[in-house]
Amino acid sequence: MTTYTLPPGMFDIVPYELKEPWRMSDLWQEVETIMREVAHLYGFREIRTPILEKTQLFIPTVGEGSDIVSKEMYSFEDRGKRNLTLRPEGTAPVIRAVVEGKLYEHPSNHKLYYIAPMFRYDRPQAGRYRQHHQFGAEAIGDNSPRQDVEIIDMAYQLYTRLKLTNLTILLNSLGNHHSRQIYRERLKEYLAPHLHTLSADSQLRFDTNPLRILDSKAFEDQAIVQGAPSILDCLEPSCREHFEEVKEWLSLLGIPFVVKSELVRGLDYYNGTVFEIVSGNLGAQSSIGGGGRYDGLLSKLGGPSLPTVGFATGIERVLQAMQHQGLSSTRTQAPTLFLIALGERAHKEGFLLTHRLRQAGVSVHMDYTTRKLSKCMSLASQMQARYVVVLGEDELARGEVQLKELATGTVTSVKLEGLATVLNGKIEIS
Ligand code: HAM
Repeated sequence: MTTYTLPPGMFDIVPYELKEPWRMSDLWQEVETIMREVAHLYGFREIRTPILEKTQLFIPTVGEGSDIVSKEMYSFEDRGKRNLTLRPEGTAPVIRAVVEGKLYEHPSNHKLYYIAPMFRYDRPQAGRYRQHHQFGAEAIGDNSPRQDVEIIDMAYQLYTRLKLTNLTILLNSLGNHHSRQIYRERLKEYLAPHLHTLSADSQLRFDTNPLRILDSKAFEDQAIVQGAPSILDCLEPSCREHFEEVKEWLSLLGIPFVVKSELVRGLDYYNGTVFEIVSGNLGAQSSIGGGGRYDGLLSKLGGPSLPTVGFATGIERVLQAMQHQGLSSTRTQAPTLFLIALGERAHKEGFLLTHRLRQAGVSVHMDYTTRKLSKCMSLASQMQARYVVVLGEDELARGEVQLKELATGTVTSVKLEGLATVLNGKIEIS
């Protein structure tokens, strides 16, 4: 028989505890709730864009020479012969939506967040997937260094709330276009004598995007990159001042960071402040989140010239870091009550009771197949229901049931009409 399996690099999120607890949907819900709360604390509002965009969007934004555009996009032609791409990242689509909908004209602050799947055709490995999920935030219209700091603070606040430890914030500035031009020349001058010993990828990048060589993970490039000149020495005074202020405001908030002048990020739209948060608990794919300023993007996509800064964190990596620390979900999707009916009349009355309890806001599971009582009891405990009620002829005659709390074994008599109130926690059961 044919077996149907997922494409490589993809996974299911399921409501059961598996070998990989980070794939449990209880945990996803909890983490996503905290992400939404943190976004709200910082004044960000949700934006949702389609999973598909026209391929053309990502070429001038993420960058033609970037790994994402050159080899990782899921692109295809639709039936109308349009070239479409499953979004590999969230920033370009959000800015496209802001420009297309003229959202910048709305009398509000323009701080937007998203929780969304992204698609990159990369080599799958632990922590690297072909469909991954990001929580991202983009702040539009503020060029103050404090806006950069607010974004980093929000990321830091999120990780703190999630109790993640062993994190380092790496910080750099890529300066403006002119600063980068000067640096590019200086870097090429330095790299030229080493060109033949650089990795094949880096040799290709020498002319197209030499800054990306700084980001190379290839062993043969490491020592050469170590001795490279620092971009921070090429910053124009206004960029230097901006970067100094970012560091100053971060220190004011007590947020620790490490300046790393080789940090360039893998997407072409950045300028000025860039940062990455790395986790010591994640192995090779240690980057848990990253972002920075990308001031030219809005005007490049046909909008006004507004400054922009943002960040995104990979949700899988957040969950895996939590798993590594032994953190689990406090949220449960288990039902409050498991109702077991014995006999035909009880099934009918129980069905009605279940309906009414749900109307009253109580989560109930009732088993409709007539199983043995013992089987139902063990199912209730496997499902981790909080309470069990057995409804039979006796209970119906008395108008009263025995409410059993599974964890403690405590049994309490409750009138049928009072069950919703008790289960909603409005009355303490004695
Ligand atoms: P990025 O660094 O490419 O930035 O991705 C953000 C985060 O997504 C990474 O730090 C990582 O945690 C996660 N991630 C990326 N690729 C994968 C993958 N294949 N599997 C699992 N997790 C992954 C961006 O995408 C920018 N749009 C961030 C940004 C927003 N910059 C400004 N605003």
